[in-house]
Amino acid sequence: MVYIDKTRCIGCLRCVRVCPMGVLVPGAGDRTPEVHPRRRCIQCMHCAAGCPNMAVRFEELPPEEVYPELPETASSLEKLIRWRRSVRSYSEKLPPKELIQKALDTANFAPSGKNQRAYRYTVVWGKKRVAALRDKCLSLCAEYGEAPELNKLFAAGTDLLTCGAPCMIVAWSPDGCLNPILDPAVSMAELELLLVQEGLSTCWGGYLRQVSDRFPEVRKDLGLGENDRVRCALMVGYAKGERYLRTVWRPAAEALWLEGEE
Ligand SMILES: Cc1cc2nc3c(=O)[nH]c(=O)nc-3n(C[C@H](O)[C@H](O)[C@H](O)COP(=O)(O)O)c2cc1C
Repeated sequence: MVYIDKTRCIGCLRCVRVCPMGVLVPGAGDRTPEVHPRRRCIQCMHCAAGCPNMAVRFEELPPEEVYPELPETASSLEKLIRWRRSVRSYSEKLPPKELIQKALDTANFAPSGKNQRAYRYTVVWGKKRVAALRDKCLSLCAEYGEAPELNKLFAAGTDLLTCGAPCMIVAWSPDGCLNPILDPAVSMAELELLLVQEGLSTCWGGYLRQVSDRFPEVRKDLGLGENDRVRCALMVGYAKGERYLRTVWRPAAEALWLEGEE
């Protein structure tokens, strides 16, 4: 469970602003944030990554583990992977189109089952276009009771569907091909790293996948045919206001090693 070390907190409320689940809220007395009693921390540790004075603590972790040091010897790829964060606040500025297209072309080199590259992309381009997609999704969700938390959060100022990004890249594939889910996901994961390496910020859009799965008109708007499904989506843009100052804790991988004689 997350909590704030009052002796270190400077009351800047950055942790409150970046928490995607609204778990940290402004404190009643001093400015030290408090934990909302009913909201669930997902331990993404945005709060810790953004805190300028390393005041965020987790009951189950020694403080030094919350803020691990990255060895100088870490490769640039390792640094990129460990520093990447899901960004949920974007400026209106659009990235250069050529940069996006080049990253898409490069991500086409990702491995895919039988080299089928069983995916296509739709790039929703520009803040207005993304907002129109978001509004359509939200109104369909409200009408049919899908993902009620999305509209509730949106009314409270949090858009988990598109996060106000000026660009949304959607990867889709037909049902019934060899690897309809894995091929797009592998390619999208590589695409994300390529974009982050270019100084862009990103966040995966699982909610858009969920909503498009439920509503054929959303799939049609995205250019999909009747047999196609959205497999993953990525918000892309330049971060606004969110600055992450360090990498944070992640558990060691759980790996079962089946070892024989070498
Ligand atoms: C498949 C997938 C779907 C996700 N869907 C959403 C989403 O719809 N909205 C959102 O704000 N974040 C979404 N996320 C981001 C996760 O919440 C985030 O990766 C996780 O909290 C860890 O934080 P980090 O990416 O900053 O390390 C998604 C991530 C993945 C991989």
